[in-house]
This record gives sequence, C-alpha cells and structure tokens, in this order.
Amino acid sequence: MHWTGSLAIIAAAAITLGTGTLKAAAQESSSAASEKNWWRNAVFYEIYPRSFGDANNDGIGDLKGITAHLDYLKDLGVDAIWLTPIYPSPQVDFGYDIADYMAIDPQCGTMADFDRLMAEANKRHIRVLMDMVMNHSSDKHKWFLQSRSSKTNPYRDWYVWHDGKGETATDKGQPPNNWQSVFGGSAWEWDDKTRQYYYHKFYTQQPDLNWNNPKVRQAFKDIIAFWLKKGVAGFRFDAITTLFEDPNLADEGVVKDKNGNPEMRNGEPVLENVKTDNLPGVHDVMAEMRAESDKFSTDKYPGTRVFIGETYLPNIAELLKQYGTPEKPEFHLPMDTQLLLVNKMDATAFRAKLEDAESELGSNVPLFVFDNHDNPRIDARYGDGVHDTDIQRVISTVLFASKGAALFYQGDEIGMKTTPPAHKEDVKDPVGLRFWPEYKGRDGERTPMQWTPGPNAGFDSPTAKPWLPVPGNNSTINVQSEKADPKSLYSWYHSLIELKKNNAAFAQGADTMLDRNNKNVLSWKRQSPGVPPVIICANFTAEPQSVDLVSQGIPEGAITTLLKTPGGSDPSTLKHVNLGPFGVYIGQLQFMISH
Ligand code: GLC
Ligand code: CA
Repeated sequence: MHWTGSLAIIAAAAITLGTGTLKAAAQESSSAASEKNWWRNAVFYEIYPRSFGDANNDGIGDLKGITAHLDYLKDLGVDAIWLTPIYPSPQVDFGYDIADYMAIDPQCGTMADFDRLMAEANKRHIRVLMDMVMNHSSDKHKWFLQSRSSKTNPYRDWYVWHDGKGETATDKGQPPNNWQSVFGGSAWEWDDKTRQYYYHKFYTQQPDLNWNNPKVRQAFKDIIAFWLKKGVAGFRFDAITTLFEDPNLADEGVVKDKNGNPEMRNGEPVLENVKTDNLPGVHDVMAEMRAESDKFSTDKYPGTRVFIGETYLPNIAELLKQYGTPEKPEFHLPMDTQLLLVNKMDATAFRAKLEDAESELGSNVPLFVFDNHDNPRIDARYGDGVHDTDIQRVISTVLFASKGAALFYQGDEIGMKTTPPAHKEDVKDPVGLRFWPEYKGRDGERTPMQWTPGPNAGFDSPTAKPWLPVPGNNSTINVQSEKADPKSLYSWYHSLIELKKNNAAFAQGADTMLDRNNKNVLSWKRQSPGVPPVIICANFTAEPQSVDLVSQGIPEGAITTLLKTPGGSDPSTLKHVNLGPFGVYIGQLQFMISH
C-alpha cells in the first residue's frame, strides 16, 4: 500500500510537472510571439513633452512630468508612447532642431530622468519610441558649426552647400534655384563666411544633412544603436520623405490655378514639390537603418523595434513603397495620412481610403492617424461646433475599429480643442509669426494637456506660467472629470481601446465595407475566423440615419451591443440600425456567417 501510494504521489507529481512544463513552454512561445508582434494591433500615443506634464513648474513639460502620468496611460490602454524630440536643442522648432542626438535637453531633465522613465514605463508594459530627425540638425550642432567654418573642413560635405547664381566678390547673387522652405521663403541661406548657400527644407536654423555622404549614414546608425541599447522600442522618423534633393538642382514647377495663374498660399507661389520630396534615395537609407535596428530585435533585446514614418504621401501606392519588401524591409508602420488628408466628414471618401488600406497594402499593417502636433486637432478639421464630441466619437471609431495599429495625439481622448493664439504677440511657433494672420502656426494644437478643472489644468502648479496658455475650457474638458463620467469622450476612447485589445474580431478581423453606396453612413464588418463578426455603423451627418444590414447580406438575427453613442438605441431588427446625428453603433452578431 505504502509503495503504491508513494508511486501514485510520484506519478501525480510527474504529471503536474509535465503539464507545468508544457504550460510554461506554451506561455514562453506565446510571449515570444507577442514580443515579436506587439506592434501589429498596438495603440500608440504621441506625447508632446513640452505640453504634457511639468514636474518642476517652470512652465515647460519635462520627463518627470511624463513619468508622473504613466499610470494614466496604462489605464487608458496605451501600448507605446512616442516622444517628440527631447534632445538638446535651441528650441527654434521646439526640439526638431537638434544640437546633440545622444543627450537630453536640460529643459526636459537628465539622462537619469530618461532612464527612470524607461524603467517605470517598462514596469507598466508601456514601450517608448523616440523621434529621429535625420533630414536636418540644428545650426548649433557641432557638425554644422564645423561645416560652416571653412570649405575644406572635413564636415563641409555633411550638409548641402552650393554656389549662388551670379555671385561676385561683393554680391551674393541669387540662390541656386527657386526651392522654398516649408516654413516660407527661399530654402537657401547665404553664409557670408564661406560665401556659399546652404539648403534648409525647414527653418533657416535647420540645415539639411547630405544623405549622399556615407559618414552621415554611419553617424545615424550609431545614434540609433545608442538609443536601442537604452531599450527604446523604436523610432518615429521625422520628415523622412525629404532626405534627398534633385542633384541637378532643377527649379520646381509652379502649381497653376484653374485660370492658369500661379496658385498662391500665404503670399507665396505654391511649388510642385517634386525636386525635394519623396525622392527614391530614401528607400536605401531606410533599408540600411532597418537592418541595423533589426540586430536589436534578438533574444538579448526582446521585442521588435519598430520604425514609424512621418509619411505624407500623395496616394496609397507611394505609401506601400515605404514598407519596403520582405527581403529589404523599411518601415513597419509608415503613417497612413490618406484619411487625415480627407479633412472633412465625408463617408464616401473615408470608405475609399479604408478600402485602399485593406486591399492595396498586402500583408503590411496600416497605421492610421488623424492629427498630431503639426495639424489642427479633430474639432477644427471635422467638427461643426455643435456635435464636436459625437464627431470625435465617429473619428475615434474609425481609428480603433479598423484593422491595424492606431496612433493618436495627447488630448484627443478628452476632446481637447484647437486653440490658436488670439494675438500676434502671443505666437510661439515662428511660422505663425511669419504668416500671421492667414496662418497662425501650430501653437493651437500644442496647448498644455488638460488634467484637471483647476488652475493651469493641473499641467503646472497654479502659480506657474505655462509656455502656452491653458484654454479656458478645461473646466469641462479635462481628464479628471471625464474619467468619472461614463458618457464622456474619455470613456468612449477607453472602451474602444478595450475592445481593440480584448475582442478577437476587433483585434484581428479583416475589414469589409458594407452598404457601399451610402453617402451618409459608413458601415463595416470585422471578421476573424472562429468568432462571430462585429458590425460598425457610423453616421457622418447631423441628420438621423437608419441602416438596413439585411439588405447588405447579413442574415436577420440577434446582435449584442458592444458600444454605442450615449442616448443611441439597440436595434430590434438588423433591418433598422438607427443612428442619431453623428451616432455610432457597434455590435457583435450572435451567430457565425460564412462570408
Ligand atoms: C516634422 C515635425 C514638425 C517639424 C518638422 C521639421 O514635420 O513633425 O513639427 O517642424 O518635421 O523637423
Ligand atoms: Ca519643466
């Protein structure tokens, strides 16, 4: 008896051990898979550090201010944060003019603050992506200081220098061609010391680097490796389509209006922008950077390091090229700005762009985005001033209920409103000063994050003076109040993100557009093998609408509501999904369908 008993115990122990080991192995391989694929259905959150949280109360957000809000991001369901530049910078373009790529700007904090942010983010399973600005540096970067010091300096050809036209010993002549800076005026700046022009696609203080120089490429590989070793999960590549220029320096064509006259914007002719944007050289560079970065997606450094691209491109075919090929991959997630560029509540145009993403990108993963620190927020571009919150619900539904990864900008989740400066004296973004009042610059989308209804919205101490004023609407538009209100926009975002994470159809399902001729309502189906499909209907108009799903081939049957605009109704038949003005209905069929 004794023996048998012991044997039984031993056998039981062995079985437990066996399944335990199996379980551990399964967990290990599923966690290896999730480390590899984490970005495919991920929620990315853009942080503009200057305006997120100010821990030392000098009016400017900092790294400690981000660390202090990590629990908030965790709770919202964010997988990764992208930080706009935090490197030392003269701050002409608020960080996009970088003076040292391997350090932290003292305004943001120290490298120790950065390491702590990484460690705290890691604890919460939030990954951190850096901004990588490769098109240009600051004119105060040591490379450029060297470069401009003499024509024979070894750094001279790290930047783009050219003689002017008709230059004499006493006259600087004219710039080499008609290329314009994105921020206005000629893209060429005369430099008296060496009597040549340098090229800058952006501000004068942002000279373009020469990407034909292998030393520049090597320098950036080293920079990328430096941050990857610190554990960052990847990069968002700034202005990446602008790396190369036409080597022949040919003039840009001038865009003509319908009467054949030059089209004007902010008092300057609009140029075709084909000699300094989207030139093919970028593909080799990105493939090279990607190969370098992929070395860090290994056992020693678990988790795929992800490349996101700032890719404003004319169409989906150009976007597709940014992914590279399986042999020579480039970006994991070049931003799909096609939807952003639609810029109005137009169900037909949205449908066309979403269908493009579904059919034209192959097995690549789309990354949708609707606004950021450079573009007016959702209210200003899609809102009607009456139904803004419901419109924000529609836009966020498109963002989170479509297949792929999603990227949104701090404050979108509470419906922060674009608030441009009221007076020219208040403008901080130099481009707003230059083009005032036609264009007021980007301050309007960069106002401090609204945490509370209190003074300075909890971004700063009540006595500090934030670098941009807090809009007065923080009494209602703020994290604290909205978290407590199940009907708030915050709660809507929270629910959508939860569905994206936990509902299999939502997480992986393919998108199929329904009711394709409907000009008012965008309806689609998310279908994933083995689970009943999810149906999404979003009203793009201020009039009530009704959708007949049965006429769209969905058999009549039960549907369970997953989420709907507050005040909306649950359909009693699939023949009538009723939607209020800009209303959204999301439901899951209670039966499988085969198509
Ligand atoms: C990108 C940034 C923008 C910056 C520009 C130049 O578009 O998002 O903020 O001004 O590049 O670096
Ligand atoms: Ca500060």
